[in-house]
Amino acid sequence: MSLPIPRGVSIDALRTAALACQGCELHQAQPGSLSGPTQTVFSKGNPTARVVFVGEQPGDIEDREGLPFVGPAGQLFDRAMAEAGIDPRQAYVTNSVKHFRFMQERPGGRRIHKTPDTVHVEACKPWLRAELSILDPEVVVALGATAGRALIGPRFRVTRERGRVFMWPPSGDAGFGSEPSRRRAVSFVATSHPSAVLRADNQETAYKEMVSDLQLVARLLA
Ligand code: URA
Repeated sequence: MSLPIPRGVSIDALRTAALACQGCELHQAQPGSLSGPTQTVFSKGNPTARVVFVGEQPGDIEDREGLPFVGPAGQLFDRAMAEAGIDPRQAYVTNSVKHFRFMQERPGGRRIHKTPDTVHVEACKPWLRAELSILDPEVVVALGATAGRALIGPRFRVTRERGRVFMWPPSGDAGFGSEPSRRRAVSFVATSHPSAVLRADNQETAYKEMVSDLQLVARLLA
Protein backbone atom coordinates (compact mmCIF):
# COMPACT_ATOMS: atom_id res chain seq x y z
CA MET A 1 0.00 0.00 0.00
CA SER A 2 1.52 3.34 -1.05
CA LEU A 3 1.32 6.27 1.28
CA PRO A 4 0.32 9.69 0.09
CA ILE A 5 3.50 11.76 -0.01
CA PRO A 6 3.13 14.91 2.09
CA ARG A 7 3.48 18.13 0.10
CA GLY A 8 4.95 21.46 1.20
CA VAL A 9 6.81 19.93 4.13
CA SER A 10 10.42 19.91 5.30
CA ILE A 11 12.92 17.11 4.67
CA ASP A 12 12.56 16.09 8.33
CA ALA A 13 8.80 15.78 7.96
CA LEU A 14 9.25 13.78 4.75
CA ARG A 15 11.72 11.49 6.54
CA THR A 16 9.23 10.90 9.36
CA ALA A 17 6.43 10.13 6.90
CA ALA A 18 8.64 7.66 5.03
CA LEU A 19 9.12 5.58 8.19
CA ALA A 20 5.61 4.20 7.69
CA CYS A 21 5.94 3.52 3.95
CA GLN A 22 4.59 0.19 2.75
CA GLY A 23 4.92 1.00 -0.94
CA CYS A 24 6.63 -2.33 -1.69
CA GLU A 25 7.34 -5.56 0.14
CA LEU A 26 10.76 -4.47 1.42
CA HIS A 27 9.27 -3.01 4.59
CA GLN A 28 8.38 -6.57 5.68
CA ALA A 29 10.70 -9.31 6.87
CA GLN A 30 12.28 -10.68 3.71
CA PRO A 31 11.77 -14.28 2.57
CA GLY A 32 13.96 -16.74 4.44
CA SER A 33 15.14 -14.09 6.88
CA LEU A 34 14.93 -14.43 10.62
CA SER A 35 16.34 -10.96 11.10
CA GLY A 36 12.96 -9.24 10.95
CA PRO A 37 12.00 -6.26 8.85
CA THR A 38 14.46 -3.62 7.77
CA GLN A 39 14.00 0.03 8.63
CA THR A 40 13.48 2.99 6.31
CA VAL A 41 16.88 4.59 5.76
CA PHE A 42 16.05 8.00 4.39
CA SER A 43 18.98 10.39 3.97
CA LYS A 44 21.69 12.38 5.66
CA GLY A 45 23.24 15.78 5.16
CA ASN A 46 22.37 19.37 4.64
CA PRO A 47 18.81 20.13 3.43
CA THR A 48 20.13 23.37 1.90
CA ALA A 49 22.88 21.46 0.07
CA ARG A 50 24.05 22.61 -3.36
CA VAL A 51 24.74 19.02 -4.37
CA VAL A 52 22.65 15.89 -3.88
CA PHE A 53 24.19 12.43 -4.18
CA VAL A 54 21.83 9.55 -4.93
CA GLY A 55 22.93 5.97 -4.26
CA GLU A 56 21.17 2.66 -4.75
CA GLN A 57 19.82 1.36 -1.45
CA PRO A 58 21.09 1.06 2.12
CA GLY A 59 23.35 -1.87 2.93
CA ASP A 60 23.55 -4.06 6.01
CA ILE A 61 25.34 -1.50 8.19
CA GLU A 62 23.17 1.37 6.95
CA ASP A 63 20.06 -0.63 7.88
CA ARG A 64 21.40 -1.25 11.38
CA GLU A 65 22.39 2.41 11.87
CA GLY A 66 19.50 4.04 10.02
CA LEU A 67 21.78 6.27 7.95
CA PRO A 68 22.94 5.99 4.32
CA PHE A 69 26.56 5.44 3.31
CA VAL A 70 28.04 4.70 6.72
CA GLY A 71 29.53 1.28 5.83
CA PRO A 72 32.59 0.46 3.69
CA ALA A 73 31.11 1.99 0.51
CA GLY A 74 30.34 5.16 2.46
CA GLN A 75 33.89 5.35 3.78
CA LEU A 76 35.29 5.08 0.27
CA PHE A 77 32.82 7.70 -0.92
CA ASP A 78 33.78 10.11 1.91
CA ARG A 79 37.46 9.68 1.00
CA ALA A 80 36.79 10.31 -2.71
CA MET A 81 34.70 13.42 -1.92
CA ALA A 82 37.46 14.82 0.29
CA GLU A 83 40.06 14.13 -2.39
CA ALA A 84 37.90 15.84 -5.01
CA GLY A 85 37.51 18.88 -2.78
CA ILE A 86 33.78 18.63 -2.10
CA ASP A 87 32.83 20.00 1.29
CA PRO A 88 30.52 17.39 2.92
CA ARG A 89 28.60 20.27 4.53
CA GLN A 90 27.50 21.20 0.99
CA ALA A 91 26.14 17.72 0.37
CA TYR A 92 22.92 15.81 0.92
CA VAL A 93 23.08 12.04 0.50
CA THR A 94 20.15 9.76 -0.22
CA ASN A 95 19.25 6.53 -1.99
CA SER A 96 16.95 5.50 -4.84
CA VAL A 97 15.43 2.80 -2.60
CA LYS A 98 15.04 3.43 1.12
CA HIS A 99 15.06 -0.18 2.37
CA PHE A 100 17.82 -2.80 2.34
CA ARG A 101 17.04 -5.67 -0.04
CA PHE A 102 19.03 -8.77 0.76
CA MET A 103 19.16 -12.54 0.74
CA GLN A 104 20.12 -14.67 3.68
CA GLU A 105 21.15 -18.21 2.95
CA ARG A 106 20.56 -19.47 6.46
CA PRO A 107 18.66 -18.01 9.39
CA GLY A 108 20.92 -15.63 11.28
CA GLY A 109 23.50 -15.76 8.46
CA ARG A 110 25.03 -12.81 6.67
CA ARG A 111 22.55 -10.54 4.91
CA ILE A 112 23.85 -10.34 1.35
CA HIS A 113 22.93 -7.34 -0.78
CA LYS A 114 20.43 -8.01 -3.55
CA THR A 115 19.99 -5.41 -6.29
CA PRO A 116 16.56 -3.75 -6.10
CA ASP A 117 14.17 -4.50 -8.95
CA THR A 118 12.44 -1.86 -11.03
CA VAL A 119 9.34 -2.34 -8.89
CA HIS A 120 11.27 -1.22 -5.77
CA VAL A 121 12.82 1.77 -7.52
CA GLU A 122 9.42 2.82 -8.88
CA ALA A 123 7.73 2.39 -5.49
CA CYS A 124 10.35 4.63 -3.88
CA LYS A 125 10.51 7.21 -6.67
CA PRO A 126 7.81 9.49 -5.20
CA TRP A 127 10.02 9.93 -2.11
CA LEU A 128 13.07 10.76 -4.20
CA ARG A 129 11.02 13.14 -6.29
CA ALA A 130 9.63 14.86 -3.19
CA GLU A 131 13.12 15.12 -1.68
CA LEU A 132 14.57 16.70 -4.81
CA SER A 133 11.79 19.22 -5.12
CA ILE A 134 12.26 20.33 -1.49
CA LEU A 135 16.06 20.44 -1.79
CA ASP A 136 16.40 22.46 -4.99
CA PRO A 137 20.08 21.54 -5.59
CA GLU A 138 22.40 22.91 -8.27
CA VAL A 139 23.95 19.52 -9.01
CA VAL A 140 22.50 16.02 -8.78
CA VAL A 141 24.95 13.12 -8.81
CA ALA A 142 23.98 9.52 -9.53
CA LEU A 143 26.19 7.01 -7.77
CA GLY A 144 25.88 3.98 -10.05
CA ALA A 145 23.39 2.46 -12.42
CA THR A 146 20.32 2.15 -10.19
CA ALA A 147 20.43 5.84 -9.30
CA GLY A 148 21.09 6.77 -12.93
CA ARG A 149 18.05 4.80 -14.07
CA ALA A 150 15.91 6.25 -11.27
CA LEU A 151 16.89 9.80 -12.21
CA ILE A 152 17.27 9.60 -15.99
CA GLY A 153 15.32 6.57 -17.15
CA PRO A 154 15.85 2.97 -18.28
CA ARG A 155 18.29 3.80 -21.08
CA PHE A 156 20.86 5.17 -18.66
CA ARG A 157 24.22 3.32 -18.69
CA VAL A 158 26.77 4.34 -16.09
CA THR A 159 29.77 3.21 -18.17
CA ARG A 160 28.63 5.44 -21.05
CA GLU A 161 27.32 8.42 -19.08
CA ARG A 162 29.77 8.79 -16.19
CA GLY A 163 32.02 11.82 -16.01
CA ARG A 164 29.90 14.09 -18.25
CA VAL A 165 27.54 16.94 -17.43
CA PHE A 166 23.89 16.75 -18.51
CA MET A 167 21.00 19.05 -17.80
CA TRP A 168 18.44 17.56 -15.47
CA PRO A 169 15.61 16.62 -15.33
CA PRO A 170 15.54 15.04 -18.79
CA SER A 171 12.44 16.24 -20.62
CA GLY A 172 9.52 13.90 -20.20
CA ASP A 173 11.58 11.08 -18.70
CA ALA A 174 11.38 9.24 -15.38
CA GLY A 175 8.56 11.44 -14.09
CA PHE A 176 10.94 14.20 -13.01
CA GLY A 177 10.51 16.19 -16.23
CA SER A 178 7.08 17.37 -15.23
CA GLU A 179 8.02 18.37 -11.68
CA PRO A 180 6.19 21.70 -11.32
CA SER A 181 8.23 22.98 -8.42
CA ARG A 182 11.62 22.89 -10.16
CA ARG A 183 13.06 26.34 -9.76
CA ARG A 184 16.11 26.05 -11.97
CA ALA A 185 17.87 23.75 -14.39
CA VAL A 186 20.14 21.38 -12.55
CA SER A 187 23.41 19.82 -13.69
CA PHE A 188 23.52 16.05 -13.60
CA VAL A 189 26.69 13.99 -13.29
CA ALA A 190 27.00 10.23 -12.89
CA THR A 191 29.83 8.25 -11.43
CA SER A 192 30.35 4.63 -10.43
CA HIS A 193 28.78 3.27 -7.31
CA PRO A 194 31.34 3.17 -4.47
CA SER A 195 30.59 -0.55 -3.94
CA ALA A 196 31.48 -1.17 -7.61
CA VAL A 197 34.79 0.60 -6.98
CA LEU A 198 35.41 -1.69 -3.99
CA ARG A 199 34.66 -4.75 -6.14
CA ALA A 200 36.56 -3.60 -9.26
CA ASP A 201 39.43 -5.77 -10.55
CA ASN A 202 41.52 -2.66 -10.73
CA GLN A 203 40.39 -0.82 -7.65
CA GLU A 204 42.98 1.91 -7.97
CA THR A 205 41.89 2.88 -11.49
CA ALA A 206 38.18 2.70 -10.59
CA TYR A 207 38.82 4.91 -7.56
CA LYS A 208 40.78 7.45 -9.63
CA GLU A 209 37.93 7.59 -12.14
CA MET A 210 35.47 8.26 -9.34
CA VAL A 211 37.64 11.06 -7.93
CA SER A 212 37.93 12.56 -11.41
CA ASP A 213 34.11 12.50 -11.82
CA LEU A 214 33.73 14.13 -8.42
CA GLN A 215 36.29 16.77 -9.36
CA LEU A 216 33.97 17.67 -12.20
CA VAL A 217 31.19 18.09 -9.61
CA ALA A 218 33.52 20.26 -7.50
CA ARG A 219 34.18 22.48 -10.52
CA LEU A 220 30.44 22.90 -11.09
CA LEU A 221 30.12 24.06 -7.49
CA ALA A 222 33.14 26.40 -7.56
N1 URA B 1 25.15 1.72 -1.02
C1 URA B 1 24.18 2.61 -1.34
O1 URA B 1 23.82 2.78 -2.49
N2 URA B 1 23.66 3.33 -0.37
C2 URA B 1 24.04 3.22 0.89
O2 URA B 1 23.48 3.92 1.71
C3 URA B 1 25.05 2.28 1.20
C4 URA B 1 25.59 1.55 0.23
